[in-house]
Amino acid sequence: MTTPLSPLIARRPPGPLAGTIRVPGDKSISHRALMIGALAVGETRIVGLLEGEDVLRTAAAMRALGAEAIRDRPGHWRVAGRGIGGLVEPDDVLDMGNSGTAARLLLGVLASHPLFAVMTGDASLRRRPMRRVTEPLLACGARFQAREGGRLPIAIAGARDALPLHYRLPVASAQVKSAVLFAGLNAPGLTTVEEPEPTRDHSENMLRHFGAEVAVEAAGTGRLVTVRGQPELRAAAVDVPGDPSSAAFPIAAALLVPGSRVRIEGVGLNPLRTGLLATLAEMGADIRVENERTAGGEPVGDLVVRHGALRGVEVPPGRAPTMIDEYPILAVVAACAEGTTRMRGLQELRVKESDRLAATAAMLAANGAGVDVEGDDLLVHGTGRSPAGGATVATHMDHRIAMSALVLGQATPAPVGVDDAAFIDTSFPGFAEVMGNIGAAIGPAREP
Ligand code: S3P
Repeated sequence: MTTPLSPLIARRPPGPLAGTIRVPGDKSISHRALMIGALAVGETRIVGLLEGEDVLRTAAAMRALGAEAIRDRPGHWRVAGRGIGGLVEPDDVLDMGNSGTAARLLLGVLASHPLFAVMTGDASLRRRPMRRVTEPLLACGARFQAREGGRLPIAIAGARDALPLHYRLPVASAQVKSAVLFAGLNAPGLTTVEEPEPTRDHSENMLRHFGAEVAVEAAGTGRLVTVRGQPELRAAAVDVPGDPSSAAFPIAAALLVPGSRVRIEGVGLNPLRTGLLATLAEMGADIRVENERTAGGEPVGDLVVRHGALRGVEVPPGRAPTMIDEYPILAVVAACAEGTTRMRGLQELRVKESDRLAATAAMLAANGAGVDVEGDDLLVHGTGRSPAGGATVATHMDHRIAMSALVLGQATPAPVGVDDAAFIDTSFPGFAEVMGNIGAAIGPAREP
């Protein structure tokens, strides 16, 4: 059975974008809240959970593993945990859909549970590399049988008496770091991950919030992260901030549409997630942070974004982990700025939901922007005016390519279409409506 495509089209709005909005809950934090809640003793209450497809897959998987995950009302969830080591064998295949985070973090959890499980995902996820997590997890005693190239579907035989791990990450990946730390939760002693550059630390923050002992030390350009195994995780309240990676889309739209002023409330501002804001500031963007506060152990604030002229910049490779999901939308902004933006060191973009380096370059080129890929660098040649638009962008099952293209269409003289907007629901359910609330024009490609 094939699902019909869901094309959408974006047109330049008649006037400025204006208003106050919120974006859905943070995807990374939502996955972690469900998984750690399932490993805790007692009832975890989550407010602001992202109810996107990716996170709903994690909720379904945790239920299949014996935890209760109950939705009381939109965004309000309760998880009845089973305690560390207490998950039970699932009686069917775990299908993680489009979500690399769900798949990789859960592989870590399963690696130190003495059970058999099989994991699969959609066509995009089945193409993505999994050996980067299964390889380090072997050392705790887990065994995996995977397809060619270590890809899903994967059969997992978790370790009975898991050993602690010490692993140096070859790539800066919060998913791999988290998988190793999660496996270490059910092993005696200390599990340590060395990361070459600091990556998002939501797992560390949330584990501490649930009572685990997590130590973090600076080491060269990166960090050493250590968790003490077999803690008693106690259920905790989790308040999920708005996802900065989702906020990136209305931020970009407000920057590009003349006269706009948009306020986005309750956005997560963890410093390991704010590389886009730093880059946009260097480009000359007028973005102010108001009401800075802490919610659920994470910094949060309201962003006020105003349209203005932007200039091209060089984005250093070391910034990539703090804005890894934001390059497609930064490339859209860069296409409307004056001068060339060079984004360096984007090799990890090739193994996201799509080959995002290629998909981003193709999106811009099809819509008349000057773009080059040089090795692992993406160069976007802005002219200070919007490119022409007019093309339908191939989204390759990638939510962020779809949303980036629809934001581009807010600025281009000719409309920009996407072949399939269905995957937007993985991270930003209600995207077209939220954007519509500030005046963006996004609608069905064909009028009924
Ligand atoms: C994520 C980490 C990043 C990011 C993904 C979410 C996480 O992936 O691209 O959307 O929640 O840990 P990598 O760790 O593979 O860079």
